[in-house]
Amino acid sequence: MKVKKAVIPAAGWGTRMLPATKSVPKELLYLAGKPVLQYIIEEAVASGIEDILIITNRGKSAIDDYFDYYPELEGKLAASGKAEELAAVRNPADLANFYFIRQKEAKGLGHAVGKAKGFVGNEPFAVLLGDDIMQAEKPVLRQLIDAAEKYKASALGVQQVADDALSRYSSVKVEPLEPRIFKATDMVEKPKKGEAFSNYAILGRYVLTPDIFDIIDHLEPGYGGEIQLTDALQKLCRQTPMVAVDFEGRRYDTGNPIGFLEATLEFSAQDAETGPWLQAYMQQKANQK
Ligand code: G1P
Repeated sequence: MKVKKAVIPAAGWGTRMLPATKSVPKELLYLAGKPVLQYIIEEAVASGIEDILIITNRGKSAIDDYFDYYPELEGKLAASGKAEELAAVRNPADLANFYFIRQKEAKGLGHAVGKAKGFVGNEPFAVLLGDDIMQAEKPVLRQLIDAAEKYKASALGVQQVADDALSRYSSVKVEPLEPRIFKATDMVEKPKKGEAFSNYAILGRYVLTPDIFDIIDHLEPGYGGEIQLTDALQKLCRQTPMVAVDFEGRRYDTGNPIGFLEATLEFSAQDAETGPWLQAYMQQKANQK
């Protein structure tokens, strides 16, 4: 099973990041050197993905533009000898083959993924959520693809989260298969107290088979009155094998201000240019106390 296609839902309003997201898609907010979405696309490409469908909405055409060439700007940068800037401007468009479709109606994550049916065709495919940036030695999506290939199964990226955080995620019922890999047998979106199956929550990465589309087409609205991907996965795991991969690596939720700040600080601290300055600044602040 070769996974060459990825779907990135990027149709949300970004309400936790208003007012900036009134006119700038949250996926393009600048985070320690590049837009959030570029980290996610780089992970996909490093995992072997070649074709990427981004599901957008009204007011998000800036995303299409970002993954296109910009001859006027590139010409100016070339003429003034700014080679590094020129490469940075041109590089995103060359990372993969990009496709775009609009969700048109805000009906939930499952509904958004359903829009990928024509693009996906008859192959297994990856889904990467646009808010979740992963830092890992082996790309997190690659970890999922390897498990999906080994078990001839769909795969969910999971990690354990604290009891009081579970209601923000989906909780998965798991049976151990080998270290870090489980069979997924049930799941619930945004569990209320007492409803969770385990502390393993799905965190923004999936490898799915096209069987999901027929399920989505027949799905009733779930949590929040929306078509939930988790509800479709619950049905999929009853029809075909599905594994949950407790992936190695760190996840940053850039869809909320604290998670965004955490990722900004962490990546800036690791960067050769900004790292030493940030360390000195933090030290100076600490000494002032
Ligand atoms: C979505 C999914 C949820 C998942 C979470 C984190 O929720 O619906 O199952 O656990 O992302 O990846 P959202 O953050 O959009 O509310």
